[in-house]
Amino acid sequence: MQIIRFKNYEQLSDYTADFIVDALKNKPDLVLCMASGSTPALTCDLLVQKLKKDKVDYSTLTFIGLDEWVGLPPTNTGSCHCFFCTKIFEPLQLKPSQYHLFNAQADDLKSECEKMDGFIAEKGGIDIMIVGIGMNGHIGFNEPGTSFATLSHVAELDEVTKSVGQKYFSGPVQLGKGITIGFGHLMNTKKVFLMANGIKKAEVIKKTIEGPVTENFPASIMQRLENGFVLIDEEAASLLSKPH
Ligand code: F6R
Repeated sequence: MQIIRFKNYEQLSDYTADFIVDALKNKPDLVLCMASGSTPALTCDLLVQKLKKDKVDYSTLTFIGLDEWVGLPPTNTGSCHCFFCTKIFEPLQLKPSQYHLFNAQADDLKSECEKMDGFIAEKGGIDIMIVGIGMNGHIGFNEPGTSFATLSHVAELDEVTKSVGQKYFSGPVQLGKGITIGFGHLMNTKKVFLMANGIKKAEVIKKTIEGPVTENFPASIMQRLENGFVLIDEEAASLLSKPH
């Protein structure tokens, strides 16, 4: 794991967007998997701007959504699906064949997971994964206690996730389960970027980097990843006791 520190959220987002643009220039059939949420929001905007400005050919890019709230339709503005439609698919006019997201309304969620696992295998694995970190240390919906070996699965959401998750919705919603890509895939991804910004993430970043590696604190898996990068701004880095 490498730690890269930035002055602020803007610089962190700019670096991440540049990294994806360069990777796509070098590998036009890049397989990119991203989390939605507050953290990668600016990266998405900058990515779209930079791809257009540099006239990068993204016609063979494949995009994979990391997770989704079970039961939500893609039209719900708090859904991960809606986030990516608004921020990536529509601005870049990606073809539907270029992206794969979980259908969180499917009757058979187990088969949705198998479809995702099959899709990732068919693509030859994920090149770049951009993830955030939850206030309980989750990545995607890999909640505390999830095995590091799990592939795509349905998760019972932890109380912290259910309450913090309300911020994405215009009114209160009943959140119970999530469907997510698991750590088995994360460990096989060529480069994993965990992004965190702001003082509210300082405690979880300290545990991620300086705490024990344990399934009870999912993001600690980053310590095991040779190709893992933790990208943090000054505020998120503010509780680290050692200069990393
Ligand atoms: C969302 C996801 C979640 C978030 C995490 C941090 O698709 O995978 O794990 O990355 O909850 O959320 P933000 O960035 O909103 O603080």
